[in-house]
Amino acid sequence: MTPRVVLVGPMGAGKTTVAGLLGEAWGVAVRDTDADIEATTGREISDIFVESGEDHFRDLEAAAVAEAVAEHDGVLALGGGAVLRAETRDLLSGVPVVFLRVGLSDAVKRVGLGTGRPLLLGNVRARIKALLDERTPVYESVATHVVDTDDRTPDEVAARIRELL
Ligand code: S3P
Repeated sequence: MTPRVVLVGPMGAGKTTVAGLLGEAWGVAVRDTDADIEATTGREISDIFVESGEDHFRDLEAAAVAEAVAEHDGVLALGGGAVLRAETRDLLSGVPVVFLRVGLSDAVKRVGLGTGRPLLLGNVRARIKALLDERTPVYESVATHVVDTDDRTPDEVAARIRELL
């Protein structure tokens, strides 16, 4: 089986929300690798990161993506860092992959950190900027389609994907 579409992109791109809307519109099932990992381990992603480290999380994530790509034929949303591993990127060849692009200021707004306290927020913005700069070429390398999400509602983004696919 092959997913009908795989959604990739950074935190705050709206992958989970848009996946739900596409699933409803097409009448197909939706899977999300973060949710799969939490279901299989019985632990929250943030606890896995803190207690077991990012490398362990990435191992679980690579296994979750491999399983979902092999088994699922609906909409699949990947965690923001899932495509960092070459082995995971390889699994996506031949599959429609949409990169949900988001700019820095929308990403900061959507991860819900507010706009005040520049001393704290400045660091968060810098971190998000570094992640976007580092990962954008990786998302582009796996994407068959790119959809901008800035100033678009999740419904508008889902409608655009349905036009494209
Ligand atoms: C991560 C993104 C998260 C989750 C984990 C790591 C990342 O998923 O997998 O916290 O490295 O960007 P979302 O993109 O769904 O928030």
